[in-house]
Amino acid sequence: MVTYLLLLLTISTPFAFVQGNGESARALFVFGDSYADTGNHDPSDPFVNMSWRKPYGSTWPGHPSGRYSDGRVLTDFIAAHMGIETPPAYRVVQNELKSHCNISDVKAACARGINFAYGGSGMFPTFGSQYLTISAQIDQLRAASREGLVSISNTSTALLVVAGNDYTAYGRLHPKEEGLYIFTHKVVSAIVASLEVLHDLGFTKLALTNLEPFGCFPAVTYPTNYTKCNKTENQQSGFHNKLLASGISKLKAELPHAEIVILDLESAFSLSLQGGPFSHSRSQWKSCCEAKNKGGCGLVNAKGKPLYRVCSKPHKAFYWDFVHPTDSGWESVSNIVFSKMAI
Ligand SMILES: *[C@@H]1O[C@H](CO)[C@@H](O)[C@H](O)[C@H]1NC(C)=O
Ligand SMILES: *[C@@H]1O[C@H](CO)[C@@H](O)[C@H](O)[C@H]1NC(C)=O
Ligand SMILES: *[C@@H]1O[C@H](CO)[C@@H](O)[C@H](O)[C@H]1NC(C)=O
Ligand SMILES: *[C@@H]1O[C@H](CO)[C@@H](O)[C@H](O)[C@H]1NC(C)=O
Ligand SMILES: *[C@@H]1O[C@H](CO)[C@@H](O)[C@H](O)[C@H]1NC(C)=O
Repeated sequence: MVTYLLLLLTISTPFAFVQGNGESARALFVFGDSYADTGNHDPSDPFVNMSWRKPYGSTWPGHPSGRYSDGRVLTDFIAAHMGIETPPAYRVVQNELKSHCNISDVKAACARGINFAYGGSGMFPTFGSQYLTISAQIDQLRAASREGLVSISNTSTALLVVAGNDYTAYGRLHPKEEGLYIFTHKVVSAIVASLEVLHDLGFTKLALTNLEPFGCFPAVTYPTNYTKCNKTENQQSGFHNKLLASGISKLKAELPHAEIVILDLESAFSLSLQGGPFSHSRSQWKSCCEAKNKGGCGLVNAKGKPLYRVCSKPHKAFYWDFVHPTDSGWESVSNIVFSKMAI
């Protein structure tokens, strides 16, 4: 890891260090879904408070923190890699403003950016009004900017994490997946358009994720007892990634002064799942927090008894629940992503 960090200092990526004269600190502004959310959903809303329930957060910080993991998520690892603390979730910023906290303290916290991501969100409306689309998240940045909470400079990085909720929502409306080819083009175009909007707002450093292999989610592999990834599903995420790569190379040509990088989750997930710390007797495709009695991770019955069971060594599991990596899963993915950026 140390070598990677040193290498990064010498090249230009959206996460590279920018030498300011003390005033222009690096900042990370995040838009996206559960792979990036660090606590934006309302903890008291039963439809969206899964990430606020036990056993989420049990590894770190030791209690639920609004993250869809037993610990840290992608945002945390990227912020750490940039050498800054994780930027505050927008919900926290708004709460502090409402409770009339000292505005300069709130501004100081926002100097490292703001996280606008909501678990379950996508480019298009997905599962309900609580899941703000990426455009709506960007509107929140505009509002924060108007209020003078943040300003976007050449030391600000925008991170866009779109892990596939658009496709889940589409699949619910189109069980035979008719029109999926055209829809994939629409999703990718919308991602590219959002990056242009962010660039127009002043971001010259833009990072985005591609899709992890859908077919290897525990949610998909359980019918085979977690022994086989579904190839059809992997082709779907792979197709999106091909379109995305070509869309992004066009965008790079249009915006030659911007630094744009794709964080390749497709290969980082595959490489992580193939070996290392996650290959052991327990299947690496299996989630640590498993549903039991038709429940799910985080669910309890009327008597408050858990409808899930948690594995004894979460750090040895790649997946935490049916689609989200564990803290150590994200650590592995992040290390692979960062090492590739240094090449
Ligand atoms: C989730 O929301 C429900 C309904 O408001 C509430 O009873 C429950 O305590 C919430 N869960 C957590 C962990 O806050
Ligand atoms: C707000 O906090 C800053 C330092 O954090 C302090 O200098 C300032 O006096 C405070 N303002 C008010 C109104 O309390
Ligand atoms: C970033 O912006 C500052 C002031 O706006 C300018 O002085 C500096 O040269 C810029 N740095 C780069 C790398 O563009
Ligand atoms: C699934 O795997 C478990 C543990 O390896 C084994 O006990 C079980 O029989 C398997 N079930 C099927 C349907 O293959
Ligand atoms: C793989 O996924 C596709 C699309 O969701 C589904 O139609 C197919 O039945 C799955 N294949 C297996 C072997 O589960």
